[in-house]
Amino acid sequence: MSRVGNAVTERSVRWGILATGGIAATFTADLVDLPDAEVVAVASRTRAGAEAFAERFGIPRAYGDWDALARDEDVDVVYVATPHSAHRAAAGLCLRAGRNVLCEKPFTLNVREAAELVALARENGRFLMEAMWMYCNPMVRRLKALVDDGAIGEVRTVQADFGLAAEVPPSHRLRDPAQGGGALLDLGVYPVSFAQLLLGEPSGVTARAVLSEEGVDLQTGALLSWENGALASVHCSIVGGTATSASITGSRGRIDVPDGFFFPDRFVLHRDGRDPEEFTADPADGPRASYRHQAREVMRALRAGETESPLVPLDGTLAVMRTLDAVRDRIGVRYPGESGATGEGAPALEVTPA
Ligand SMILES: NC(=O)c1ccc[n+]([C@@H]2O[C@H](COP(=O)([O-])OP(=O)(O)OC[C@H]3O[C@@H](n4cnc5c(N)ncnc54)[C@H](OP(=O)(O)O)[C@@H]3O)[C@@H](O)[C@H]2O)c1
Repeated sequence: MSRVGNAVTERSVRWGILATGGIAATFTADLVDLPDAEVVAVASRTRAGAEAFAERFGIPRAYGDWDALARDEDVDVVYVATPHSAHRAAAGLCLRAGRNVLCEKPFTLNVREAAELVALARENGRFLMEAMWMYCNPMVRRLKALVDDGAIGEVRTVQADFGLAAEVPPSHRLRDPAQGGGALLDLGVYPVSFAQLLLGEPSGVTARAVLSEEGVDLQTGALLSWENGALASVHCSIVGGTATSASITGSRGRIDVPDGFFFPDRFVLHRDGRDPEEFTADPADGPRASYRHQAREVMRALRAGETESPLVPLDGTLAVMRTLDAVRDRIGVRYPGESGATGEGAPALEVTPA
């Protein structure tokens, strides 16, 4: 066992889990399967919640408040899995106490909160990463490498959608403004992040949405534009299950990702004048819907003493948050406590009123 500063070198990485809901359980189940990961502590808003989760996954320490987890020196990295509205508070608490943090997507409610966390991590020399597991997926990395190598020429358009029919009560986090509800932040973050993976930050954003009585977006369509003439059309919904497909068109071809573009098991490359080429996932990469790649990337970075992942760079996360802010600005979704423009601090974007 050895540690260099805050970095882990040869032993298991010790994880703490903050919040005990749906994705916390899914991610923890993946973690406990990894031989070089150890889940050593969990925190919940209630002691009973933490104890039940600890018992379910065989976790030695259960805390009834977040602060105790944040101060646990024997935790290398905390995974924050609260609703989005609490990401800033939970991740901030951990970073201030000297913990490294993997924070669920969307990273925060808006770019101001995101910039605060990024500054905290950088000032304190701590690792911080948005849990944008799509960027760690081997097939997505393969697709990006092909695009970067010019397989389809210059990217002209990206299309991607993520919609599901979520029949949930208004109190559910997906419909609750106080918990950052709506399709855009929960699901739209994927197509936006996908487009920005390939094209970087857009210079223009237009959007339209259908809002719920509570004031969150039930579905949103946005058109993103780039100075080089590229366009991305992204769509998200919590009232209809979409194909969850993506298509990238370039000057010399196209790549189609048939479904589940954020964790694909295959995609098809159409190069102009050639037969289509199908790319399929390597069975050695494990189950399709796996958070292991993301966990491995965090642990690789910690062992290397890195404070940021090159696969999910913080500047990329900030750029996505600026776009989400701009979309919310266009569709008129504000969350309680947000003052002024959500996109404050964002670069001037061309405004086309929704
Ligand atoms: N990466 C992915 O594929 C994926 C999938 C689903 C969700 N997510 C993201 O993960 C986050 C959590 O989603 P989820 O589906 O797991 O939600 P969830 O099932 O509602 O769980 C959230 C947990 O956070 C705690 N919590 C609830 N309300 C809270 C509040 N107002 N303030 C602070 N903590 C609260 C609770 O844990 P305690 O009772 O223990 O405090 C709750 O169980 C969201 O940001 C979501 O976008 C990511």
